[in-house]
Amino acid sequence: MPLIDQSVIEEIKLRANIEDVISSYVQLKRAGSNYQGLCPFHSEKSPSFTVFPGTSSFYCFGCGAGGDVIHFIRRAENMDYPSAVEFLAKRYGIPITLDKKEQAETARRERVLAMNKEAARFFHQKLFEPEGAEGLRYLTEVRRLPLPLIRHFGLGFAPNGFGSLTDHLRKKGYTDSEMASAFLCGISQKTGKPYDYFRNRVIFPIIDVRGDVVAFGGRVMDDSKPKYLNSSDTPAFKKSRNLFALNFARKSETDTMILCEGYMDVIALHGAGFSNAVATLGTAITPEQARIFARYVKKVIICYDADEAGQRAAAKAFALLGEVGVECRILKVENAKDPDEYIRKFGAGAFKNLMERSRSEFDFKLEKILAEHPIEDPDHKIKALEESVRLIASFPSPSVREIHLHRIAELLGVPPDSIRRDVEKIIRGRIRKDRREETRQFIRQTEGYGDRINPDFVKNPGAASAEEAILGILLLHPELYGQLQKSDKPLQADDFFTAFGKKVFTAFAERIDDPTFESGMLGEVLSVEEMDRVAELKQNRSRLQNTLTVLRDSVARLRETSGRREQSLEDILNQKRRKKDN
Ligand code: UTP
Ligand code: MN
Repeated sequence: MPLIDQSVIEEIKLRANIEDVISSYVQLKRAGSNYQGLCPFHSEKSPSFTVFPGTSSFYCFGCGAGGDVIHFIRRAENMDYPSAVEFLAKRYGIPITLDKKEQAETARRERVLAMNKEAARFFHQKLFEPEGAEGLRYLTEVRRLPLPLIRHFGLGFAPNGFGSLTDHLRKKGYTDSEMASAFLCGISQKTGKPYDYFRNRVIFPIIDVRGDVVAFGGRVMDDSKPKYLNSSDTPAFKKSRNLFALNFARKSETDTMILCEGYMDVIALHGAGFSNAVATLGTAITPEQARIFARYVKKVIICYDADEAGQRAAAKAFALLGEVGVECRILKVENAKDPDEYIRKFGAGAFKNLMERSRSEFDFKLEKILAEHPIEDPDHKIKALEESVRLIASFPSPSVREIHLHRIAELLGVPPDSIRRDVEKIIRGRIRKDRREETRQFIRQTEGYGDRINPDFVKNPGAASAEEAILGILLLHPELYGQLQKSDKPLQADDFFTAFGKKVFTAFAERIDDPTFESGMLGEVLSVEEMDRVAELKQNRSRLQNTLTVLRDSVARLRETSGRREQSLEDILNQKRRKKDN
Protein backbone atom coordinates (compact mmCIF):
# COMPACT_ATOMS: atom_id res chain seq x y z
CA MET A 1 0.00 0.00 0.00
CA PRO A 2 2.62 2.64 0.83
CA LEU A 3 4.09 4.01 -2.38
CA ILE A 4 7.54 4.51 -1.03
CA ASP A 5 9.53 2.21 1.13
CA GLN A 6 9.09 3.33 4.74
CA SER A 7 12.81 3.03 5.45
CA VAL A 8 13.48 5.77 2.90
CA ILE A 9 11.07 8.11 4.66
CA GLU A 10 12.59 7.29 8.00
CA GLU A 11 16.06 8.02 6.76
CA ILE A 12 14.95 11.31 5.25
CA LYS A 13 13.48 12.37 8.58
CA LEU A 14 16.66 11.36 10.31
CA ARG A 15 18.97 13.19 7.95
CA ALA A 16 16.86 16.16 6.86
CA ASN A 17 17.19 18.66 9.64
CA ILE A 18 13.87 20.52 9.52
CA GLU A 19 15.26 23.94 10.41
CA ASP A 20 17.92 23.59 7.68
CA VAL A 21 15.40 22.59 5.07
CA ILE A 22 12.96 25.34 6.01
CA SER A 23 15.63 28.01 6.29
CA SER A 24 16.25 27.80 2.56
CA TYR A 25 12.71 29.13 2.17
CA VAL A 26 12.13 31.24 5.26
CA GLN A 27 14.44 33.46 7.25
CA LEU A 28 14.27 31.87 10.66
CA LYS A 29 15.12 33.52 13.95
CA ARG A 30 15.71 31.60 17.14
CA ALA A 31 12.89 31.89 19.68
CA GLY A 32 13.82 29.85 22.74
CA SER A 33 14.24 26.28 21.63
CA ASN A 34 12.21 26.93 18.49
CA TYR A 35 12.54 29.11 15.42
CA GLN A 36 10.20 31.71 14.00
CA GLY A 37 9.79 33.46 10.70
CA LEU A 38 7.30 34.93 8.27
CA CYS A 39 4.97 32.23 7.01
CA PRO A 40 5.67 31.31 3.37
CA PHE A 41 2.09 30.10 2.94
CA HIS A 42 0.16 33.25 3.67
CA SER A 43 1.13 36.87 3.69
CA GLU A 44 1.89 38.30 7.09
CA LYS A 45 3.91 41.10 8.57
CA SER A 46 4.80 39.62 11.94
CA PRO A 47 6.07 36.07 12.30
CA SER A 48 3.60 33.39 13.38
CA PHE A 49 5.32 30.59 11.52
CA THR A 50 7.13 28.35 14.03
CA VAL A 51 9.58 25.49 13.57
CA PHE A 52 9.88 22.98 16.41
CA PRO A 53 13.21 21.15 16.06
CA GLY A 54 12.31 18.96 19.03
CA THR A 55 9.45 17.28 17.22
CA SER A 56 10.80 17.97 13.71
CA SER A 57 7.65 19.84 12.84
CA PHE A 58 6.37 23.27 11.90
CA TYR A 59 3.15 25.10 12.50
CA CYS A 60 1.81 28.49 11.46
CA PHE A 61 -0.38 30.03 14.13
CA GLY A 62 -1.67 32.46 11.50
CA CYS A 63 -2.94 30.17 8.74
CA GLY A 64 -2.81 26.73 10.35
CA ALA A 65 -0.35 25.19 7.89
CA GLY A 66 1.72 22.60 9.69
CA GLY A 67 3.34 19.20 9.66
CA ASP A 68 6.67 17.49 9.16
CA VAL A 69 9.51 18.20 6.77
CA ILE A 70 7.93 16.25 3.91
CA HIS A 71 4.72 18.17 4.36
CA PHE A 72 6.66 21.42 4.26
CA ILE A 73 8.26 20.52 0.92
CA ARG A 74 4.91 19.38 -0.39
CA ARG A 75 3.52 22.84 0.27
CA ALA A 76 6.55 24.96 -0.51
CA GLU A 77 7.33 23.22 -3.79
CA ASN A 78 3.71 22.50 -4.56
CA MET A 79 4.45 18.79 -4.97
CA ASP A 80 2.54 15.61 -4.29
CA TYR A 81 3.69 13.36 -1.47
CA PRO A 82 5.94 11.01 -3.49
CA SER A 83 7.61 13.91 -5.31
CA ALA A 84 8.32 15.65 -2.01
CA VAL A 85 9.91 12.48 -0.68
CA GLU A 86 11.93 12.16 -3.86
CA PHE A 87 12.99 15.81 -3.65
CA LEU A 88 14.35 15.40 -0.12
CA ALA A 89 15.87 11.99 -0.86
CA LYS A 90 17.78 13.54 -3.76
CA ARG A 91 18.97 16.42 -1.64
CA TYR A 92 20.30 14.07 1.02
CA GLY A 93 21.61 11.44 -1.41
CA ILE A 94 19.28 8.72 -0.21
CA PRO A 95 18.52 6.05 -2.84
CA ILE A 96 14.83 5.68 -3.36
CA THR A 97 12.61 2.74 -4.21
CA LEU A 98 9.49 3.72 -6.10
CA ASP A 99 6.44 1.81 -7.12
CA LYS A 100 5.54 1.02 -10.74
CA LYS A 101 3.44 4.08 -11.51
CA GLU A 102 6.05 6.39 -10.12
CA GLN A 103 8.75 4.61 -12.06
CA ALA A 104 6.77 5.06 -15.25
CA GLU A 105 6.34 8.78 -14.63
CA THR A 106 9.97 9.31 -13.79
CA ALA A 107 10.92 7.43 -16.93
CA ARG A 108 8.62 9.62 -19.01
CA ARG A 109 10.17 12.74 -17.54
CA GLU A 110 13.69 11.52 -18.17
CA ARG A 111 12.74 10.68 -21.78
CA VAL A 112 11.50 14.23 -22.34
CA LEU A 113 14.69 15.62 -20.86
CA ALA A 114 16.89 13.39 -23.01
CA MET A 115 14.91 14.42 -26.06
CA ASN A 116 15.21 18.10 -25.17
CA LYS A 117 18.94 17.70 -24.82
CA GLU A 118 19.10 16.10 -28.24
CA ALA A 119 16.98 18.92 -29.68
CA ALA A 120 19.18 21.58 -28.08
CA ARG A 121 22.25 19.97 -29.57
CA PHE A 122 20.53 19.83 -32.96
CA PHE A 123 19.52 23.52 -32.87
CA HIS A 124 22.97 24.59 -31.72
CA GLN A 125 24.73 22.65 -34.49
CA LYS A 126 22.40 24.07 -37.14
CA LEU A 127 23.56 27.54 -36.21
CA PHE A 128 26.99 26.72 -37.61
CA GLU A 129 25.79 24.94 -40.74
CA PRO A 130 24.88 26.67 -44.03
CA GLU A 131 21.20 26.16 -43.21
CA GLY A 132 21.60 28.30 -40.11
CA ALA A 133 23.62 31.12 -41.64
CA GLU A 134 20.77 33.58 -41.27
CA GLY A 135 20.38 32.73 -37.59
CA LEU A 136 24.06 33.15 -36.89
CA ARG A 137 24.09 36.44 -38.77
CA TYR A 138 21.12 37.66 -36.74
CA LEU A 139 22.73 36.80 -33.40
CA THR A 140 26.23 38.05 -34.17
CA GLU A 141 25.49 41.05 -36.38
CA VAL A 142 22.04 42.30 -35.54
CA ARG A 143 22.18 41.45 -31.81
CA ARG A 144 25.98 41.78 -31.56
CA LEU A 145 26.51 38.67 -29.47
CA PRO A 146 30.08 37.33 -29.44
CA LEU A 147 30.52 33.64 -30.25
CA PRO A 148 31.62 32.57 -26.76
CA LEU A 149 28.40 34.05 -25.33
CA ILE A 150 26.32 32.23 -27.96
CA ARG A 151 28.03 29.00 -26.97
CA HIS A 152 27.71 29.72 -23.24
CA PHE A 153 23.93 29.96 -23.56
CA GLY A 154 23.77 27.16 -26.12
CA LEU A 155 21.75 29.34 -28.49
CA GLY A 156 20.60 27.69 -31.68
CA PHE A 157 18.65 27.89 -34.88
CA ALA A 158 15.51 26.06 -35.98
CA PRO A 159 15.53 25.66 -39.80
CA ASN A 160 12.57 26.66 -41.89
CA GLY A 161 11.29 23.14 -42.76
CA PHE A 162 8.38 21.31 -41.21
CA GLY A 163 10.36 18.15 -40.56
CA SER A 164 13.94 19.15 -39.71
CA LEU A 165 13.86 18.41 -35.98
CA THR A 166 11.11 15.80 -36.07
CA ASP A 167 12.98 13.71 -38.66
CA HIS A 168 16.13 13.98 -36.63
CA LEU A 169 14.47 12.95 -33.36
CA ARG A 170 12.62 10.09 -35.01
CA LYS A 171 15.97 8.73 -36.22
CA LYS A 172 17.11 8.89 -32.61
CA GLY A 173 14.20 6.69 -31.59
CA TYR A 174 11.66 9.19 -30.24
CA THR A 175 7.99 8.72 -31.09
CA ASP A 176 5.66 11.40 -32.45
CA SER A 177 3.65 11.47 -29.26
CA GLU A 178 6.80 11.91 -27.19
CA MET A 179 7.81 14.88 -29.32
CA ALA A 180 4.35 16.35 -29.04
CA SER A 181 4.34 15.93 -25.26
CA ALA A 182 7.56 17.98 -25.11
CA PHE A 183 6.13 20.70 -27.40
CA LEU A 184 8.81 20.06 -29.98
CA CYS A 185 6.24 19.26 -32.61
CA GLY A 186 2.58 19.76 -33.27
CA ILE A 187 0.34 17.13 -34.85
CA SER A 188 -1.43 18.21 -38.03
CA GLN A 189 -5.19 17.96 -37.70
CA LYS A 190 -5.55 17.20 -41.40
CA THR A 191 -2.93 14.52 -41.90
CA GLY A 192 -2.31 13.37 -38.33
CA LYS A 193 1.39 13.85 -39.03
CA PRO A 194 3.82 15.73 -36.82
CA TYR A 195 5.44 19.01 -37.86
CA ASP A 196 8.22 21.08 -36.27
CA TYR A 197 6.90 23.59 -33.75
CA PHE A 198 9.90 25.93 -33.95
CA ARG A 199 10.64 27.02 -37.53
CA ASN A 200 12.96 29.70 -38.86
CA ARG A 201 13.67 31.05 -35.40
CA VAL A 202 16.72 31.54 -33.24
CA ILE A 203 16.47 29.29 -30.23
CA PHE A 204 17.01 30.01 -26.53
CA PRO A 205 17.21 26.81 -24.49
CA ILE A 206 15.93 27.05 -20.93
CA ILE A 207 18.07 25.10 -18.52
CA ASP A 208 17.10 24.33 -14.95
CA VAL A 209 19.32 24.23 -11.88
CA ARG A 210 20.10 20.56 -12.43
CA GLY A 211 21.49 21.42 -15.85
CA ASP A 212 18.63 19.79 -17.75
CA VAL A 213 17.21 21.50 -20.85
CA VAL A 214 13.58 21.87 -19.80
CA ALA A 215 12.11 24.12 -22.49
CA PHE A 216 12.82 26.42 -25.43
CA GLY A 217 12.04 29.93 -26.55
CA GLY A 218 12.28 30.76 -30.24
CA ARG A 219 12.51 34.29 -31.68
CA VAL A 220 11.73 35.45 -35.19
CA MET A 221 14.51 37.32 -36.97
CA ASP A 222 12.32 40.14 -38.23
CA ASP A 223 9.25 41.99 -37.01
CA SER A 224 6.72 39.23 -37.66
CA LYS A 225 4.43 37.97 -34.92
CA PRO A 226 4.52 36.29 -32.54
CA LYS A 227 7.98 37.55 -31.64
CA TYR A 228 8.66 34.58 -29.37
CA LEU A 229 7.28 31.08 -29.28
CA ASN A 230 7.78 29.21 -26.02
CA SER A 231 7.33 25.62 -24.89
CA SER A 232 4.18 25.17 -22.84
CA ASP A 233 4.27 23.19 -19.62
CA THR A 234 5.41 19.58 -20.10
CA PRO A 235 5.96 16.60 -17.75
CA ALA A 236 9.41 18.07 -17.16
CA PHE A 237 8.69 21.80 -17.08
CA LYS A 238 6.56 24.43 -15.39
CA LYS A 239 6.92 27.97 -16.63
CA SER A 240 5.86 29.47 -13.33
CA ARG A 241 8.62 27.65 -11.42
CA ASN A 242 11.64 28.35 -13.58
CA LEU A 243 13.80 31.34 -14.33
CA PHE A 244 15.90 31.86 -17.43
CA ALA A 245 19.66 31.63 -16.63
CA LEU A 246 19.10 30.56 -13.02
CA ASN A 247 21.50 27.70 -13.79
CA PHE A 248 24.28 30.30 -14.08
CA ALA A 249 23.01 32.98 -11.71
CA ARG A 250 22.76 30.70 -8.70
CA LYS A 251 26.50 30.06 -8.99
CA SER A 252 27.48 33.73 -9.05
CA GLU A 253 28.92 34.51 -5.68
CA THR A 254 26.76 37.38 -4.55
CA ASP A 255 23.74 37.92 -2.34
CA THR A 256 21.94 39.75 -5.15
CA MET A 257 20.21 38.82 -8.38
CA ILE A 258 19.10 41.07 -11.21
CA LEU A 259 15.59 40.39 -12.48
CA CYS A 260 14.90 41.32 -16.11
CA GLU A 261 12.00 40.86 -18.48
CA GLY A 262 13.63 39.31 -21.52
CA TYR A 263 15.99 36.54 -22.60
CA MET A 264 18.03 39.06 -24.55
CA ASP A 265 18.43 41.34 -21.53
CA VAL A 266 19.79 38.49 -19.48
CA ILE A 267 22.21 37.41 -22.19
CA ALA A 268 23.49 40.96 -22.65
CA LEU A 269 23.99 41.32 -18.89
CA HIS A 270 25.88 38.05 -18.62
CA GLY A 271 28.00 39.17 -21.58
CA ALA A 272 28.80 42.35 -19.70
CA GLY A 273 29.89 40.42 -16.62
CA PHE A 274 26.65 40.45 -14.62
CA SER A 275 26.23 36.70 -14.34
CA ASN A 276 23.58 37.09 -11.61
CA ALA A 277 20.88 38.22 -14.07
CA VAL A 278 17.76 36.12 -14.63
CA ALA A 279 14.37 36.58 -16.30
CA THR A 280 10.91 35.13 -15.93
CA LEU A 281 9.69 33.15 -18.91
CA GLY A 282 7.41 35.57 -20.69
CA THR A 283 5.02 36.00 -17.75
CA ALA A 284 4.79 38.28 -14.75
CA ILE A 285 6.67 37.04 -11.70
CA THR A 286 4.84 34.29 -9.77
CA PRO A 287 4.88 33.54 -6.01
CA GLU A 288 6.83 30.36 -6.77
CA GLN A 289 9.50 32.36 -8.56
CA ALA A 290 9.63 34.82 -5.67
CA ARG A 291 10.38 31.86 -3.39
CA ILE A 292 13.18 30.76 -5.71
CA PHE A 293 14.81 34.15 -5.25
CA ALA A 294 14.38 33.89 -1.49
CA ARG A 295 16.14 30.56 -1.58
CA TYR A 296 19.24 31.88 -3.31
CA VAL A 297 19.68 35.55 -2.45
CA LYS A 298 18.85 38.35 -0.01
CA LYS A 299 18.43 41.14 -2.55
CA VAL A 300 16.95 41.55 -6.00
CA ILE A 301 17.44 44.46 -8.35
CA ILE A 302 14.41 44.74 -10.58
CA CYS A 303 15.51 45.85 -14.01
CA TYR A 304 12.48 45.83 -16.24
CA ASP A 305 11.89 47.64 -19.51
CA ALA A 306 11.60 51.41 -19.30
CA ASP A 307 8.08 51.46 -20.75
CA GLU A 308 4.87 51.72 -18.72
CA ALA A 309 4.19 48.02 -18.77
CA GLY A 310 7.64 47.33 -17.36
CA GLN A 311 7.23 49.86 -14.58
CA ARG A 312 3.79 48.53 -13.72
CA ALA A 313 5.15 44.99 -13.57
CA ALA A 314 7.81 46.25 -11.18
CA ALA A 315 5.18 47.11 -8.56
CA LYS A 316 4.01 43.50 -8.60
CA ALA A 317 7.58 42.22 -8.28
CA PHE A 318 8.13 44.49 -5.26
CA ALA A 319 5.03 43.09 -3.61
CA LEU A 320 5.75 39.40 -4.22
CA LEU A 321 9.43 39.59 -3.36
CA GLY A 322 8.68 41.68 -0.29
CA GLU A 323 6.31 38.98 0.94
CA VAL A 324 9.05 36.37 0.95
CA GLY A 325 11.49 38.71 2.70
CA VAL A 326 13.69 39.60 -0.24
CA GLU A 327 14.96 43.17 -0.20
CA CYS A 328 14.24 44.84 -3.53
CA ARG A 329 15.56 47.81 -5.39
CA ILE A 330 14.66 49.02 -8.82
CA LEU A 331 16.77 50.29 -11.63
CA LYS A 332 15.40 52.16 -14.60
CA VAL A 333 17.53 52.33 -17.72
CA GLU A 334 17.87 55.80 -19.22
CA ASN A 335 17.82 56.61 -22.91
CA ALA A 336 17.27 52.99 -23.84
CA LYS A 337 14.20 50.79 -23.89
CA ASP A 338 15.68 47.86 -22.02
CA PRO A 339 18.89 46.65 -20.33
CA ASP A 340 20.07 44.93 -23.52
CA GLU A 341 19.90 48.14 -25.54
CA TYR A 342 21.37 50.13 -22.67
CA ILE A 343 24.45 47.94 -22.45
CA ARG A 344 24.94 47.95 -26.17
CA LYS A 345 24.78 51.76 -26.19
CA PHE A 346 26.62 52.69 -23.03
CA GLY A 347 28.61 49.64 -21.90
CA ALA A 348 29.05 47.63 -18.72
CA GLY A 349 30.61 50.46 -16.68
CA ALA A 350 27.61 52.68 -17.19
CA PHE A 351 25.32 49.87 -16.13
CA LYS A 352 27.34 49.37 -12.97
CA ASN A 353 26.81 53.06 -12.17
CA LEU A 354 23.10 52.68 -12.76
CA MET A 355 23.05 49.77 -10.33
CA GLU A 356 24.62 51.90 -7.68
CA ARG A 357 21.90 54.47 -8.21
CA SER A 358 19.10 51.90 -7.99
CA ARG A 359 16.17 53.08 -5.92
CA SER A 360 14.32 51.60 -2.97
CA GLU A 361 10.66 50.66 -3.10
CA PHE A 362 9.82 53.82 -1.20
CA ASP A 363 11.69 56.09 -3.60
CA PHE A 364 10.24 54.32 -6.60
CA LYS A 365 6.69 54.75 -5.37
CA LEU A 366 7.23 58.25 -4.07
CA GLU A 367 8.56 59.32 -7.43
CA LYS A 368 5.43 57.99 -9.05
CA ILE A 369 3.25 59.94 -6.63
CA LEU A 370 5.17 63.13 -7.24
CA ALA A 371 5.05 62.65 -11.01
CA GLU A 372 1.26 62.38 -10.84
CA HIS A 373 0.84 65.26 -8.41
CA PRO A 374 3.13 68.25 -8.96
CA ILE A 375 3.30 69.78 -5.48
CA GLU A 376 3.49 73.39 -6.64
CA ASP A 377 -0.25 73.10 -7.07
CA PRO A 378 -2.00 73.17 -3.64
CA ASP A 379 -4.70 70.61 -4.57
CA HIS A 380 -2.12 68.22 -5.92
CA LYS A 381 0.01 68.77 -2.86
CA ILE A 382 -2.82 67.52 -0.64
CA LYS A 383 -3.27 64.48 -2.86
CA ALA A 384 0.47 63.84 -2.79
CA LEU A 385 0.43 64.08 0.99
CA GLU A 386 -2.49 61.65 1.30
CA GLU A 387 -0.87 59.11 -0.97
CA SER A 388 2.49 59.45 0.75
CA VAL A 389 0.85 58.82 4.11
CA ARG A 390 -0.72 55.65 2.71
CA LEU A 391 2.63 54.61 1.29
CA ILE A 392 4.37 55.12 4.63
CA ALA A 393 1.66 53.14 6.40
CA SER A 394 2.33 50.18 4.11
CA PHE A 395 5.71 49.57 5.74
CA PRO A 396 5.43 47.19 8.70
CA SER A 397 8.45 48.45 10.63
CA PRO A 398 7.81 51.52 12.84
CA SER A 399 11.40 52.73 12.58
CA VAL A 400 11.39 52.44 8.80
CA ARG A 401 8.14 54.41 8.78
CA GLU A 402 9.80 57.03 10.94
CA ILE A 403 12.62 57.53 8.42
CA HIS A 404 10.21 57.81 5.52
CA LEU A 405 7.89 60.20 7.25
CA HIS A 406 10.69 62.62 8.03
CA ARG A 407 11.55 62.75 4.36
CA ILE A 408 7.97 63.45 3.39
CA ALA A 409 7.70 66.07 6.12
CA GLU A 410 10.69 67.92 4.74
CA LEU A 411 9.65 67.52 1.12
CA LEU A 412 6.13 68.82 1.64
CA GLY A 413 6.88 71.22 4.48
CA VAL A 414 4.49 69.55 6.92
CA PRO A 415 5.37 68.85 10.58
CA PRO A 416 6.42 65.20 11.11
CA ASP A 417 4.06 64.87 14.10
CA SER A 418 0.98 65.49 12.03
CA ILE A 419 2.10 63.03 9.35
CA ARG A 420 2.73 60.48 12.07
CA ARG A 421 -0.80 60.95 13.40
CA ASP A 422 -2.23 60.40 9.91
CA VAL A 423 -0.15 57.27 9.43
CA GLU A 424 -1.22 55.87 12.79
CA LYS A 425 -4.83 56.51 11.95
CA ILE A 426 -4.52 54.39 8.81
CA ILE A 427 -2.81 51.60 10.69
CA ARG A 428 -5.48 51.58 13.40
CA GLY A 429 -8.16 51.45 10.73
CA ARG A 430 -6.43 48.53 9.10
CA ILE A 431 -6.26 46.58 12.35
CA ARG A 432 -9.97 47.19 12.89
CA LYS A 433 -10.69 46.02 9.37
CA ASP A 434 -8.60 42.87 9.87
CA ARG A 435 -10.57 42.12 13.02
CA ARG A 436 -13.87 42.63 11.25
CA GLU A 437 -12.73 40.34 8.47
CA GLU A 438 -11.72 37.75 11.04
CA THR A 439 -15.14 37.87 12.65
CA ARG A 440 -16.82 37.60 9.30
CA GLN A 441 -14.69 34.60 8.41
CA PHE A 442 -15.44 33.07 11.77
CA ILE A 443 -19.15 33.31 11.15
CA ARG A 444 -18.82 31.97 7.63
CA GLN A 445 -16.89 29.01 8.95
CA THR A 446 -19.34 28.47 11.73
CA GLU A 447 -22.12 28.33 9.24
CA GLY A 448 -20.22 25.58 7.56
CA TYR A 449 -19.43 27.36 4.33
CA GLY A 450 -15.78 27.89 5.07
CA ASP A 451 -14.84 24.46 6.34
CA ARG A 452 -13.99 22.69 3.14
CA ILE A 453 -11.89 20.10 4.92
CA ASN A 454 -14.51 18.96 7.37
CA PRO A 455 -17.86 20.12 5.97
CA ASP A 456 -19.74 17.78 8.35
CA PHE A 457 -18.47 19.70 11.36
CA VAL A 458 -21.48 22.00 11.64
CA LYS A 459 -23.97 19.18 11.40
CA ASN A 460 -22.94 18.07 14.84
CA PRO A 461 -20.26 20.22 16.42
CA GLY A 462 -20.39 18.25 19.66
CA ALA A 463 -19.48 14.98 18.03
CA ALA A 464 -17.09 16.62 15.62
CA SER A 465 -15.09 18.31 18.38
CA ALA A 466 -14.92 15.04 20.28
CA GLU A 467 -13.48 13.50 17.13
CA GLU A 468 -10.96 16.26 16.81
CA ALA A 469 -9.81 15.67 20.36
CA ILE A 470 -9.51 11.92 19.77
CA LEU A 471 -7.56 12.30 16.55
CA GLY A 472 -5.34 15.07 17.89
CA ILE A 473 -4.41 13.04 20.97
CA LEU A 474 -3.91 9.77 19.11
CA LEU A 475 -1.66 11.37 16.54
CA LEU A 476 0.30 13.18 19.21
CA HIS A 477 0.59 10.08 21.41
CA PRO A 478 0.16 7.01 19.17
CA GLU A 479 1.32 4.85 22.07
CA LEU A 480 -2.06 5.45 23.77
CA TYR A 481 -3.88 3.64 20.97
CA GLY A 482 -3.04 0.20 22.38
CA GLN A 483 -4.40 1.11 25.81
CA LEU A 484 -7.54 2.65 24.39
CA GLN A 485 -8.29 -0.43 22.33
CA LYS A 486 -7.94 -2.75 25.34
CA SER A 487 -11.53 -1.93 26.31
CA ASP A 488 -14.35 -4.30 25.37
CA LYS A 489 -15.67 -1.77 22.88
CA PRO A 490 -12.66 -0.69 20.80
CA LEU A 491 -12.87 2.51 18.79
CA GLN A 492 -13.77 1.94 15.14
CA ALA A 493 -14.03 4.02 12.02
CA ASP A 494 -17.81 3.66 12.19
CA ASP A 495 -17.86 5.46 15.53
CA PHE A 496 -16.82 8.62 13.73
CA PHE A 497 -19.50 11.04 12.71
CA THR A 498 -17.76 13.15 10.04
CA ALA A 499 -16.35 11.77 6.81
CA PHE A 500 -13.11 13.58 7.58
CA GLY A 501 -12.81 11.95 10.99
CA LYS A 502 -13.47 8.53 9.48
CA LYS A 503 -10.86 9.06 6.82
CA VAL A 504 -8.15 10.22 9.21
CA PHE A 505 -8.91 7.47 11.72
CA THR A 506 -8.88 4.78 9.01
CA ALA A 507 -5.54 6.02 7.67
CA PHE A 508 -4.20 6.03 11.23
CA ALA A 509 -5.51 2.57 12.14
CA GLU A 510 -4.08 1.07 8.96
CA ARG A 511 -0.60 2.29 9.77
CA ILE A 512 -0.36 2.17 13.53
CA ASP A 513 1.00 -1.38 13.60
CA ASP A 514 4.08 -0.22 11.75
CA PRO A 515 6.75 0.12 14.46
CA THR A 516 8.08 3.26 12.80
CA PHE A 517 4.67 4.95 12.74
CA GLU A 518 4.43 8.70 12.97
CA SER A 519 1.68 11.00 11.79
CA GLY A 520 3.53 12.26 8.70
CA MET A 521 2.78 8.88 7.10
CA LEU A 522 -0.84 9.93 6.70
CA GLY A 523 0.39 12.23 3.92
CA GLU A 524 0.26 9.18 1.67
CA VAL A 525 -3.52 9.34 1.63
CA LEU A 526 -4.44 12.82 2.90
CA SER A 527 -4.30 16.00 0.86
CA VAL A 528 -2.11 18.95 1.77
CA GLU A 529 -5.08 20.76 3.34
CA GLU A 530 -6.12 17.70 5.28
CA MET A 531 -2.59 17.31 6.60
CA ASP A 532 -2.64 20.94 7.71
CA ARG A 533 -5.80 20.22 9.65
CA VAL A 534 -4.17 17.19 11.23
CA ALA A 535 -1.27 19.39 12.32
CA GLU A 536 -3.73 21.87 13.80
CA LEU A 537 -5.48 19.14 15.75
CA LYS A 538 -2.15 18.04 17.20
CA GLN A 539 -0.93 21.56 17.85
CA ASN A 540 -4.06 22.50 19.77
CA ARG A 541 -3.44 19.62 22.16
CA SER A 542 0.30 19.84 22.53
CA ARG A 543 0.04 21.18 26.09
CA LEU A 544 -2.72 18.88 27.17
CA GLN A 545 -2.27 16.94 30.45
CA ASN A 546 -4.12 13.70 31.38
CA THR A 547 -4.19 12.70 27.76
CA LEU A 548 -5.49 9.17 28.31
CA THR A 549 -8.39 10.41 30.42
CA VAL A 550 -9.33 13.08 27.92
CA LEU A 551 -9.05 10.52 25.16
CA ARG A 552 -11.41 8.08 26.90
CA ASP A 553 -13.86 10.83 27.79
CA SER A 554 -13.86 12.06 24.21
CA VAL A 555 -14.61 8.59 22.87
CA ALA A 556 -17.53 8.37 25.29
CA ARG A 557 -18.71 11.84 24.28
CA LEU A 558 -18.46 10.96 20.59
CA ARG A 559 -20.62 7.88 21.08
CA GLU A 560 -23.10 9.80 23.16
CA THR A 561 -23.53 12.71 20.75
CA SER A 562 -23.06 11.21 17.33
CA GLY A 563 -26.74 10.28 17.19
CA ARG A 564 -27.78 13.90 17.64
CA ARG A 565 -27.92 16.08 14.59
CA GLU A 566 -30.00 19.19 15.11
CA GLN A 567 -28.01 22.17 16.33
CA SER A 568 -28.98 25.79 16.59
CA LEU A 569 -26.67 28.47 15.26
CA GLU A 570 -26.31 29.56 18.88
CA ASP A 571 -24.92 26.14 19.86
CA ILE A 572 -22.57 26.19 16.95
CA LEU A 573 -21.23 29.64 17.76
CA ASN A 574 -20.68 28.70 21.39
CA GLN A 575 -18.97 25.52 20.39
CA LYS A 576 -16.61 27.36 18.08
CA ARG A 577 -15.91 30.06 20.63
CA ARG A 578 -15.08 27.50 23.27
CA LYS A 579 -12.81 25.71 20.87
CA LYS A 580 -11.04 28.94 20.04
CA ASP A 581 -10.54 29.83 23.68
CA ASN A 582 -9.13 26.43 24.65
P1 UTP B 1 10.57 41.62 -24.81
O1 UTP B 1 9.78 41.97 -26.02
O2 UTP B 1 11.04 42.72 -23.91
O3 UTP B 1 11.75 40.67 -25.25
O4 UTP B 1 9.73 40.57 -23.99
P2 UTP B 1 13.31 40.84 -25.37
O5 UTP B 1 13.95 39.66 -24.74
O6 UTP B 1 13.77 42.19 -24.98
O7 UTP B 1 13.45 40.61 -26.91
P3 UTP B 1 14.14 41.47 -28.02
O8 UTP B 1 15.17 42.36 -27.40
O9 UTP B 1 13.07 42.22 -28.72
O10 UTP B 1 14.73 40.42 -28.88
C1 UTP B 1 10.23 40.07 -22.77
C2 UTP B 1 10.04 38.59 -22.71
O11 UTP B 1 8.68 38.26 -22.85
C3 UTP B 1 8.53 37.03 -23.53
C4 UTP B 1 9.94 36.52 -23.78
O12 UTP B 1 10.32 35.70 -22.69
C5 UTP B 1 10.75 37.79 -23.79
O13 UTP B 1 12.11 37.57 -23.52
N1 UTP B 1 7.78 37.18 -24.78
C6 UTP B 1 7.78 38.36 -25.48
C7 UTP B 1 7.10 36.10 -25.26
O14 UTP B 1 7.08 35.03 -24.65
N2 UTP B 1 6.40 36.21 -26.44
C8 UTP B 1 6.40 37.37 -27.18
O15 UTP B 1 5.80 37.39 -28.27
C9 UTP B 1 7.09 38.46 -26.66
MN1 MN C 1 14.83 43.73 -25.88
